[in-house]
Amino acid sequence: MTLVAPSILSADFACLGEEVKRLEKAGADCVHIDVMDGQFVPNLTIGAPVVKALRKETNLPFDVHLMIQHPENLIPDFIQAGADWISVHAEACVHLHRVRQMIHEGGKKAGVALNPATPLTSVQYLLKDVDYILLMTVNPGFGGQPFIRHVLPKIQELRQMIREQADERPIYIEVDGGVNQETGTLCVQAGADILVAGSYVFSYTELEKPIRQLQTLHSSL
Ligand code: DX5
Ligand code: ZN
Repeated sequence: MTLVAPSILSADFACLGEEVKRLEKAGADCVHIDVMDGQFVPNLTIGAPVVKALRKETNLPFDVHLMIQHPENLIPDFIQAGADWISVHAEACVHLHRVRQMIHEGGKKAGVALNPATPLTSVQYLLKDVDYILLMTVNPGFGGQPFIRHVLPKIQELRQMIREQADERPIYIEVDGGVNQETGTLCVQAGADILVAGSYVFSYTELEKPIRQLQTLHSSL
């Protein structure tokens, strides 16, 4: 089964507490939280205090995607706020391995995110030390952008890299950006384990429908 992580970037910000409760009720596997700093990406979203407030509203794991410069400065705040999975961008970290170590020392799952143009070689030598790789299928910064198809071979290559480095521990491939039923199918066929979907999920009144549809993509292959 494919895991589905709806992004609350497309939720109603005026009632985020209610929105995460709706996601839980609709069967989402976790909540994807997009943190943007207006520096690494040209947009500003939410910070650790909002994550802390949302923590009281749901038991779903929080998958926090840090699109920020110097993530090491804020990781302790996000850990304290209740993040469960934390990803940082390879492009934003000079000492990427040290940053992932910080996340692990805080007892959380560590992921590395890559922009569409960033090659897989940037994670090749730390693959065994992370829990997941987040492949961006849009340029980070905004919800509702079209899926970049050229990333599909990258998903396949990463799947192969993970297979070659075979370990007891799973290393998940998460994809983020422009995911809907059609593009989600292509991602799962290429080897993705976790689909992030924002505008697609929240375009439905009944959130259960798109979530279930994406979760069962495997079985439709
Ligand atoms: C983009 C974010 C995504 C975004 C996905 O910078 O990282 O998580 O919310 O939104 P959609 O699914 O609308 O592309
Ligand atoms: Zn994201």
